[in-house]
Amino acid sequence: VSESNQFCEAGIGYTECGASPYSPSKILIKGGTVVNAHHQEIADVYVEDGIIVAVKPNIKVGDEVTVLDATGKFVMPGGIDPHTHLAMEFMGTETIDDFFSGQAAALAGGTTMHIDFVIPVNGSPSAGFDAYVEKAKKSCMDYGFHMAITKWDEAVSREMEIMVKEKGINSFKFFLAYKGSLMISDELLLEGLKKCKSLGALAMVHAENGDAVFEGQKRMIELGITGPEGHALSRPPVLEGEATSRAIRLAGFVNTPLYIVHVMSIDAMDEIADARKSGQRVIGEPVASGLVLDDSGLWDPEFKTASKFVMSPPIRAPGHGKALQGGLSTGILQLVGTDHCAFNSTQKAFGIDDFRKIPNGVNGIEERMHLVWDTMVESGQISISDYVRLTSTECARIFNIYPRKGAILVGSDADIIILNPNSSFEISATSHHSRSDTNVYDGRKGKGKVEVTISRGRVVWENGQLNIAPGTGKYIEMPPFGYLFDGIGKADSNYLSSLRAPVKRFKATT
Ligand code: URP
Ligand code: ZN
Ligand code: ZN
Ligand code: ZN
Repeated sequence: VSESNQFCEAGIGYTECGASPYSPSKILIKGGTVVNAHHQEIADVYVEDGIIVAVKPNIKVGDEVTVLDATGKFVMPGGIDPHTHLAMEFMGTETIDDFFSGQAAALAGGTTMHIDFVIPVNGSPSAGFDAYVEKAKKSCMDYGFHMAITKWDEAVSREMEIMVKEKGINSFKFFLAYKGSLMISDELLLEGLKKCKSLGALAMVHAENGDAVFEGQKRMIELGITGPEGHALSRPPVLEGEATSRAIRLAGFVNTPLYIVHVMSIDAMDEIADARKSGQRVIGEPVASGLVLDDSGLWDPEFKTASKFVMSPPIRAPGHGKALQGGLSTGILQLVGTDHCAFNSTQKAFGIDDFRKIPNGVNGIEERMHLVWDTMVESGQISISDYVRLTSTECARIFNIYPRKGAILVGSDADIIILNPNSSFEISATSHHSRSDTNVYDGRKGKGKVEVTISRGRVVWENGQLNIAPGTGKYIEMPPFGYLFDGIGKADSNYLSSLRAPVKRFKATT
């Protein structure tokens, strides 16, 4: 075993680190169907030193090149998860997956990049950024950052500018829920939207009415409903619809693009559909849990089982998930995330007597690619090119890193997966790579299996084995003014020229 041994983590499922993660790699992927968001063809893909250098049939190479046979399989861009929370301090604890274990799980499931949410420290984006730079030092795959905005003053406004101009951040998340911690007011949201617009940064919102959620929680406690089902009952879809509508209308008023994270209900999706029909630039991101699960787990008599499904907005009643799938296949919704925010059963037990204290969040970073394939492609709802768009390419486009990421093109980063449509997957809390002792998809089986993951030009997942080392992942800077900003100023000048000249009034003379 190579000198990379020192990096192997013992005891958490990583067996061999055969090749040094630092050796330059030459890989030829032969005979697969190469799928991009707009095109597919049977071709070979040749990779050198982390970059795709050729995509064409019948590439010939020498003996020093590692050859992978992809005949009968799909060769696709690695997944990009737009929504994760690794090593996040939240609700009195910290998510159980850090930047190593969370990324290990991602790679085992075919995701090769994720964008994590930096939480400011005492409201300071810069201090939050510094803290996350430290957390991310153990990364083993590429990652980017969004920044949450949790308070407003001149310093925050200035630091947002630094984040965009110097730190590679091009998106900011505003929480309309979590009253008393992350939640912000409409006044702050407006300031934030204006600032985002001026910086060419994308505003993102967690859309639930936090004041009404607070009221709903009080109702449940008064009724004596303290278990996990109280979580869903206290924050019904109408509160998600209201906040989605409000955020969309305020973004329209400011005329800046808006990204709605974790769209969980028909109510929220309908607001997004209406806005898009009227020409507004709104992006809707459903997450794996909202697409394939329903709320029945929250009523499980075992607290350990029920509590693992607690996330916000809640996983909804049957029907919402299927509708969200339809939203993806018809273009109302544009990409799929996970909101991977894993807590183990000990952490979830903080809320054994009061659902308000159950840390909110579910896993998904390892499962997303398989779940979307099985649920959407196997069922015939979307094409394989659509699959690539929804799991990878559209995220890269929105966050302005396409075609470096999200494509199998000459010059793109070699983040590649090989998926075998005739193989199958089975999800289990005992074999997954997350550090959590539970999995909301436990026992789920389906068709299609990511057999190989290539990250930064190295084979990191093959034959069910990870070959990874902390410190090998790179921070991906994301430039501002992505495609959602193209031509947006036209609407502003049209608006200004549509205003009539001020009415001249003469003071009455006596
Ligand atoms: O329950 C959730 N979603 N936890 C993570 C924080 C957030 O709101 O995204
Ligand atoms: Zn080793
Ligand atoms: Zn959220
Ligand atoms: Zn989240």
